[in-house]
Amino acid sequence: MTDISVAVLGATGYTGAELIRLIGEHPHFRIRRLAAHSQAGKRAGQALPGLGGDLADMELMPADAPWPDDVQLVFTALPHGAAAGSVRRALEAGCRVVDLSADFRHQSAENYKAAYGADHPHPELLPEAVFGLAELAREQVATSRLTANPGCYPTSVLLPLVPLLRAGVLDAERIIVDSKSGTSGAGRSAKTELLYCEINEGVRAYGLPRHRHAWEMEEWARAFSGVEARIQFVPHILPMTRGMLSTLHLSGRDPGRWREILHAAYATEPFVRMLAEGELPTTKGVAGSNRCDIGVAVTGPDSAVVVSCIDNLIKGAAGQAVQNANIMFGLPETAGLSAIALWP
Ligand SMILES: NC(=O)c1ccc[n+]([C@@H]2O[C@H](COP(=O)([O-])OP(=O)(O)OC[C@H]3O[C@@H](n4cnc5c(N)ncnc54)[C@H](OP(=O)(O)O)[C@@H]3O)[C@@H](O)[C@H]2O)c1
Repeated sequence: MTDISVAVLGATGYTGAELIRLIGEHPHFRIRRLAAHSQAGKRAGQALPGLGGDLADMELMPADAPWPDDVQLVFTALPHGAAAGSVRRALEAGCRVVDLSADFRHQSAENYKAAYGADHPHPELLPEAVFGLAELAREQVATSRLTANPGCYPTSVLLPLVPLLRAGVLDAERIIVDSKSGTSGAGRSAKTELLYCEINEGVRAYGLPRHRHAWEMEEWARAFSGVEARIQFVPHILPMTRGMLSTLHLSGRDPGRWREILHAAYATEPFVRMLAEGELPTTKGVAGSNRCDIGVAVTGPDSAVVVSCIDNLIKGAAGQAVQNANIMFGLPETAGLSAIALWP
């Protein structure tokens, strides 16, 4: 198979840097264009200290500069709102796109506005966007021109939640999700609340009363399962660089069977691992890998907590984006992706 030329827009951000690292090891994807915004004009190695080799010498172009003709695949790792215009230009140039932002994660402009408080910049593209939670939408991703990569929190929540909703065992009216994210989840731009003195040795909830990912979770829980779920979602930010842990407090019937239901749903999946009874996942156990680990603890005759862990920058962003691109180009889904974590 011939190589596939790739552009990464938003190359200087945390997810952009992860995309470059993963694509650098990919057997078929080759980077032809790296683009940035305020750092356009620099060499990539000046903006990204981890880069080496030829890529470090590549000039960072502005996101809206025309890209080389042979580019077939564009990853947009840009802030929501800014991504949609670049996505449209890429589609017009005949490329296929995996968008890591929230711009195409909702099924309607109304849903986008409810979550993000702004009019959608390109609502005409929403009908063709596929929500790329690969394990649950593989066939749709395979034929899509535009795949919307799910948010990190929704990935960590929907993977354990949807099979249980489909099985009809949950009280869908009372789902409480408590999530923790490493600081890279907030991106690389300077923010006072992310200064070392503000974040170090502390933990805090944020985004309440309703974080924007709550809309994404409820919308796709309904779309994938047909069940109207009400999710009370509380995210927290922690002084760790990467990692995400979501604890789902669930009630319903037969909680002793829930582990088995999840195991059956994901038994053949390369990137979802059900842990053995009595085991719970850790952020260290998935760091640097494209894996989601899930554990179940039965807490009563009609209740259990389900805990899931991902690396927010990999399965929650760049890794899942490469997984989706592999599916879109008919490549082995695992190409360029490791299921083995960086441990310790
Ligand atoms: N961080 C995560 O864990 C995570 C997980 C899932 C999804 N996401 C989503 O992925 C996207 C990228 O996130 P990130 O954490 O990588 O962000 P980030 O670290 O803040 O990086 C943002 C990137 O976009 C560029 N940029 C900023 N403003 C721009 C504009 N107006 N037009 C074009 N480019 C612009 C920046 O370029 P300069 O450096 O040159 O200014 C930088 O390359 C966001 O939509 C985010 O919500 C992030």
